[in-house]
Amino acid sequence: MNKIYLATKMIGDAYSAQVVNQNEDIIAWLAHKLKHSFGVSLEIMNILYGEKEICDSLTKDEKELVELSGILHDLGRFYQHKDGRHLSNSEFDHGEYAVKLLKDNPNFNNPIILFAIQEHNQIAIRYDNPYYTELSDHDKKVADITAKLLRDADKLENIKQFIYEGHPKLTYEITHEPMSEYVKNCVINNFQISNKIIKNTVDRIVGLLSWVHDINYETTKTQVRNLHYIEAGINEAITYGATAEDCELLRKYLKV
Ligand SMILES: [Fe+2]
Repeated sequence: MNKIYLATKMIGDAYSAQVVNQNEDIIAWLAHKLKHSFGVSLEIMNILYGEKEICDSLTKDEKELVELSGILHDLGRFYQHKDGRHLSNSEFDHGEYAVKLLKDNPNFNNPIILFAIQEHNQIAIRYDNPYYTELSDHDKKVADITAKLLRDADKLENIKQFIYEGHPKLTYEITHEPMSEYVKNCVINNFQISNKIIKNTVDRIVGLLSWVHDINYETTKTQVRNLHYIEAGINEAITYGATAEDCELLRKYLKV
């Protein structure tokens, strides 16, 4: 059977099963993730077809692996709740959980898909991942492309949501303070900002903006530039207490 259909069905079925008898917050979360999953599956192919050289280097079957990784990447998100409570990312690794669900499924137990999904929510791709290290040299190249495309598509889809709808993550833990010293240091030194070190809302916004350090393909960069993501994020940060000095720092170091 067509694997794209089966993957799409798997996401639809996970949503339908989990949404039953849930509270409003969990329903909103599941609906957001359903929309995000399909958004990423479109973005990943848009980016792939925008990168002619990369696209031409992949076979039809390899392109299918890219698309399947996009559709299935957030399968774990549909299970990130317990007893009506949303579990935090430190309590529940949704990339890991998706791999747990997919690794025994004969349609999707391909190490390239499993590697890309397991690494999509890590601060950086871990090339010591056994799904990667055991691949042939050719498949390593395909896995690297797939993982990078997935990370780009995931960020681009979230960036579009931020631009068009406001970011759902900004709806909790609201504070009005300048950027913390630790996050400032990350910005200057080009580090990814982990959720664990975020102290206030401005830090959280800067964390989202810092994604631009981890965009791999020119097609994605062009879209992010055209959306004026950095300027929109800075304006958002100002409303939560970012100082003129914070903004200057962000404009100088966060470039795409
Ligand atoms: Fe994810």
